[in-house]
Formats: sequence, structure tokens, C-alpha cells
Amino acid sequence: MKRFLIFFMMLSVLGCKNETPVKENILPKKGVIAQQAMVVSAREEASKIGVAVLKKGGNAFDAMVAVEMALAVTYPYAGNLGGGGFMVYRTQFGELGTFDFREKAPIAASRNMFLDAEGNYLQEKSKVGGLAVGVPGTIAGLFAVHEKLGSLPIEEILQPVVELARNGYVVTQQQAERFQEFGPIFETVNEEKSLFTQVFKAGDTLKNEALANTLQRIIQNGRAEFYEGETGQQLINYVQSKGGVMTLEDLAAYEAEWREPLVFDYEGFKIISMAPPSSGGICLAQILKMAAPFDLKQYGHNSLKTIQVLVEAERRAYADRSYYLGDPDFVEIPIDSLLSDPYLKQRMEGFSFEGATPSSTLSYGAIFPEESTETTHFSIVDSLGNAIAVTTTLNAAYGSKLYVKELGFFLNNEMDDFSAKTGEPNMFGLIGGEANAIAPQKRMLSSMTPTLVEKDGQFWMSLGTPGGSTIITSVLQTILNVSEFGMTMQEAVDAPRFHHQWIPDVVQFEPDSFDPSLLKQLEAKGYTIDEKNAPVIGKVDAILVRPDGSLEGGADRRGDDTAVGF
Ligand code: DON
Repeated sequence: MKRFLIFFMMLSVLGCKNETPVKENILPKKGVIAQQAMVVSAREEASKIGVAVLKKGGNAFDAMVAVEMALAVTYPYAGNLGGGGFMVYRTQFGELGTFDFREKAPIAASRNMFLDAEGNYLQEKSKVGGLAVGVPGTIAGLFAVHEKLGSLPIEEILQPVVELARNGYVVTQQQAERFQEFGPIFETVNEEKSLFTQVFKAGDTLKNEALANTLQRIIQNGRAEFYEGETGQQLINYVQSKGGVMTLEDLAAYEAEWREPLVFDYEGFKIISMAPPSSGGICLAQILKMAAPFDLKQYGHNSLKTIQVLVEAERRAYADRSYYLGDPDFVEIPIDSLLSDPYLKQRMEGFSFEGATPSSTLSYGAIFPEESTETTHFSIVDSLGNAIAVTTTLNAAYGSKLYVKELGFFLNNEMDDFSAKTGEPNMFGLIGGEANAIAPQKRMLSSMTPTLVEKDGQFWMSLGTPGGSTIITSVLQTILNVSEFGMTMQEAVDAPRFHHQWIPDVVQFEPDSFDPSLLKQLEAKGYTIDEKNAPVIGKVDAILVRPDGSLEGGADRRGDDTAVGF
């Protein structure tokens, strides 16, 4: 069993990254162009359902509800009812906000729940089975968004999704390969056969009757169906039968939170991103601000000097992340200090183009309080000018692999995003300490970075991506590809990416995408190059407003992602 679990854990990590790389020279230079509105998501069916909502008079927030659930149907790899996420929005009137529907630790969770009597970290427990599951937030998030900003009745929004689940969708090649890879794991973990242990070929139609029924009950009974009703009861029974400690009290206590976004300026752009419990906005701001004094445009896209500046800024930001960041409802985060110009200037003082700063010589920065302190992403813009960015997740591919057969959906393994033991890496190699330690009802720190960008006071770009710890650096590079290097949205999304996160002290590069002589020069300067562990980095979906006011979609070549607009 132990050997199986180790194999399984490797799969959970790789499972997030196993999209097939596509040769770049066959790629379109420009993405889908639309005059009024657009949805870009991981699946064509989901993008189309979102556009259908917009066409019948719904706004971006109505479309968000439909797309999120359509992804739960057609993209169970990460689309979910059993997980959580974040949404960043900018209304047509320029009002900014975010919704946090991140999972929480159950009331019965405890700091050392993943340690044995000797204090050793039992890695598989935070990734597989009932204890790995955080209290799901997605349904609460959808109803909170809809109540505050939606315009159509829930039934009108969700009925087409019920039909999609009942009538089925066509399995893609990439999806068929994943089902074949994960089917045996689902059977072992759940100790039974189910819909997803069947063999599907590309082109087959996959119908999920159980999920259609669950969604129908949610339309009928609202949010309470999930948090107090039959669906909630069945979910809890299942989690407990698999060793979990979650109870109905946990579901009843769950609330999605409206939070202030993390807003900062970069080179004349206003960037609007997710605040804690995501680390995304803070790290993105730190990296961009540390890079700002350097002339990246002049150095060139993916040039030696650009890579050096970004890697060194990333190293420093991720070191701060591991120490300072956690759920803001539980820990005090010195956001102002972490983002202050003098602090970030001083943080980059040790940087030199001559050679790498070894991570072993670098820790989190000293803060002096200031006077005054497997995931999926979609973007939507409607014809009124409302713009949203949503990233949602089960954590690893298909989350904990627990599949509630009667309800038709998978449950997350978000508990692995906590720091189970100081200094022990989680599945993304991220380490953390006190700020992100497990506590009852605490939200685990995230890297998800749904982000909007304003230019000259107007909405300009919506973007985000899956990819665990690489989310922040993928969003970073995509923004820079357009703002500094003049790419179209599609080119910016498709361009090869690299990633550094302080520890481990390696720079990951997408394989066969970077000039070998460039990598040799980096090695000579003391950087450890890793082209093996990340077949792809991120899978960005984005929308850009072009100078003539039309919209360009950037749907990542790395997946089945599709932009649909009108
Ligand atoms: O919230 C986080 O940072 C992670 N749970 C995201 C997981 C993820 O992106 C997996 N996808 N590849």
C-alpha cells in the first residue's frame, strides 16, 4: 500500500502538469477576436454556455456561475463543486472587488493532524482520502456572487448546465488519456467502480446523470442544498466513511467572503489581483516592483538578463511568502511593508548580473513596521464592460480522488496547501511555517492569482492560470509579454515559460523551448536548470482589450482551452 501511495503522490503532482507540449511554429499569432463579449476557459462547452448566458441578456457574473458549473461537468480534473476558488472583478462602473470561496480546515482539524507520534510528516494523508478534504466553498461562492451582482434567475443560468450533464459532452483526446491514467487510482482510493473508472475514448459522449440530479436539486433548494440538505449529508457521510473529520456543522458554518482586492501600480498599469488567503497578488506585486527598475523591454523577451532579473525577484518573493503569508483571518500580514518601495529595493540589493544568489544564503526579509503594516481559470468580459477573472481548484488533479458516486463529483485535497510541518514541502515543493499552519476553520494559503489590469483608467486585461506554485510566475510573464514585449494576447499566453520559487533552488524551464546556449550561460552564472520536471508551466486563459476596443482571447495551446466571443 505504501509503495502505491508514493506512486500515487507522484501522480498527483504530475497530474497537474501532464498536458502535451505543442510545437510553437504552428500557432496562430492572434487569438479569437470579438467585438462585444468573450469567455475563455478550459473547455469549449463551458465557454459556449457562458456566451449563451451573455447573449440572452445575462451579465459576466451570471456567466461566471454557468461557466464554473459547466467546467464541473466537462472538466472534472479541476472544475468542481467539491473545491473552492477566487474571483476578481471590475464592474462596468469601475468598482473593484473579490470573492473568496477558498476551502477551510474542518473544525476538528488540528495543527499536527498529518504528523505521526514521532512528529514525522505523513505526506499521503494530506493528499489522499478523507482527511485531505477541506470544506468546499464553490457553491457558496457562486450564490454569493449571484446575490450581489447577478441579474438572471439561477434556474435560467443553470438549467443548460443540467442538460449538458444529462445529455453528455464529447471526450477530448487529452481527457481520454487522463481518464485512462487516473481510472485505476479512482478505483483503489474509492474502493469501488464508478463513472470515471470506465474506459473512455476520444469522441465518446460522457453523461453524468448523478451530477445532473445534484445540480437540479441545487436549482430547486439553493445554496442550502449543498450546505444543509441531502447533498451535504451525502457528502459528509462519504468523507467520514473515508476517514475524514468533516461534519455537517462545518458545512453549515461555511461562508464565502467578499474581500478587498490587492491593487498596485506597475509602469503606468493598475493591477488588480487576489489578496490573502491567496499569496498571488502580494507575490506578483513584489516581483513586478522588484523588476521595475530594470529595462526588461531593452533586454528582450526570455533573454539572459530578463530571466536573471525575474528569477531573482521570484526567489525573494517566494521566500517572503513562506514566512509571512497565511489566512488573514488568523494571522497578521504586514502587506504594506512587504510592498513598500524601500523594502523591495533593499531586498534586491544583493542581486548582480554576475551570478545567482543561492537560496541557501537568502531568507525572508526583515520587516520594519511602517508608520501608517489542479485548478482551472476562466476570464469573462460582457458587452456592458464588466470583467472578471476566476480561478477555481480541487488542488491536485481530481483533488483527493474521492468521488461521491451518488452526487457525481470529486472532492478536493486542499489540506495539502497548509504547511503540515515547518520546513516540509507540500506537493508543489512549497514550504511554510507558523503563518500557514493548520488550525480549525482556517483557510490554507493559495497561489491562485486571478488578475485584472487597467490601462489609462480603463479595463485592459483579464487573466489567470492553474499550476500550483507556478501560477504567480505564469501570470507575471503573461502580463510582461504584452506590456513590455508587445505580444498579442495569444502570443503572450503561448510563449514558453520559466519558474523559480526560492526553494528548491532550481529554475524550471518548459522543455525544448529555450535556446540551449542561453541555458548554458545561466548555468555558468550559478543557476541550476531543470527542464525535466515541468512538461508545461501554467495554462493561462486571458482576454485583452485591443486599441480599437475589440477583445482578443488568449486560450492556452497547452490544453483544450477555447475562446468564444461575439
Ligand atoms: O491554491 C493553490 O495554490 C493550489 N491549490 C492550486 C493547485 C493547482 O493550481 C493545481 N493545478 N495544476
